[in-house]
Amino acid sequence: MKAIHSLLATLIAAATIQAAPAALAQDTTIKVGVIAAFSGPFADYGGQIEAGMKAYMKEHGDTVAGKKVELVTRDTKGPAPEVAKRLAQELITRDKVQFLAGFGLTPNAMAVAPVVSEAKVPMVISNAATSSITTKSPYITRVSMTIPQVSAPMAQWALKNGIKQVYTVVADYGPGIDAETQFTKTFKAGGGEIAGSVRTPLQNPDFSAAVQRVKDAKPQAVFVFLPAGEQGIAFVKGFNERGLAQAGIKLIATGDVTDDHVLAAMGDDTLGMITSFHYSAAHSSPENTAFLKAYAAANDAKVGAPNFMAAAGYDTMHVIYEVAKKLDGNIDGDKAMAAIKGMRWTSPRGPVMIDPETRDITQTVYIRKVEKKDGKLANVEFDKIPDVKDPGK
Ligand code: PHB
Repeated sequence: MKAIHSLLATLIAAATIQAAPAALAQDTTIKVGVIAAFSGPFADYGGQIEAGMKAYMKEHGDTVAGKKVELVTRDTKGPAPEVAKRLAQELITRDKVQFLAGFGLTPNAMAVAPVVSEAKVPMVISNAATSSITTKSPYITRVSMTIPQVSAPMAQWALKNGIKQVYTVVADYGPGIDAETQFTKTFKAGGGEIAGSVRTPLQNPDFSAAVQRVKDAKPQAVFVFLPAGEQGIAFVKGFNERGLAQAGIKLIATGDVTDDHVLAAMGDDTLGMITSFHYSAAHSSPENTAFLKAYAAANDAKVGAPNFMAAAGYDTMHVIYEVAKKLDGNIDGDKAMAAIKGMRWTSPRGPVMIDPETRDITQTVYIRKVEKKDGKLANVEFDKIPDVKDPGK
């Protein structure tokens, strides 16, 4: 009996010693688990989000409310809901993160919703843009955009500019279906006609058949949503190679297609393209100038040009810092969500607010045209609609 007691005492002592550094770290650190693709075809999503987060920390320091802020990054390697879910569980139970953030891709964000509901951990989405994500858990907020929020203004712009017949091409998953649904709804309500619709696979798409179908239908314009990066490059290439512009077909899109991060690689074929979006690196404001400066100071040149995901990474950290200040560094899920609801600030993109009802972002949506600015391709804003809420819910 005595032996068992002393064995127990030894075990308890060992456990206490082991637990002590973790408990101590909780008192002095705010850990942010960042789940995103950092490798594979969507590697730039994680790269851009983290680069934006680092920019914020460079500008504002890496401590808030007396605690050190630590980013704990985890790679999903692409759209991988089961992996995202497991990483979220590990970050919460093993690494004891107080926030989850990142999430470039919708399927990964969706998979983590039940995990944060269960653990009551606040989750700040830095990109994933399918409207319904924020309805999946009361612990989710989003600082990026929703696809319906940026698609409706494109339909309105088309109607105002004499475009009456449009073909839609979207990626066949959440945000693409949101884009097709919202564009069609707004466009038809204003008297427009949909000439046809095609959905392309999220993984390894080949756009030649879609581009040919559009060409054969001869609409006035094609409206496109594709996830930012390589897919836009491939689509625009196919559009030009098959002579759609020469056939008089206009290309209109959400700003994902003319992603600032890959615009230079897309080349002059993009000149004149009209897109609707919430952020352009060419946005003229003191806040954007500060962001671009901090981005360049905080990151290696090899991370490339900043885009909307980098800007949202920066805003993600703004929300986390403001919550930490308000709660004096003691992060509690329910109190954090209460602090987030109704939060307003001036982002590099312009004035924004977290809608207290939906926990989604209300913001200005800009209409932009690809032009040369200081010798470089840029999404130049020429019109705007202030205070746009997500119309998708
Ligand atoms: C998404 O998966 O929600 C997503 C990905 C890339 C984008 C927009 C949305 O450009």
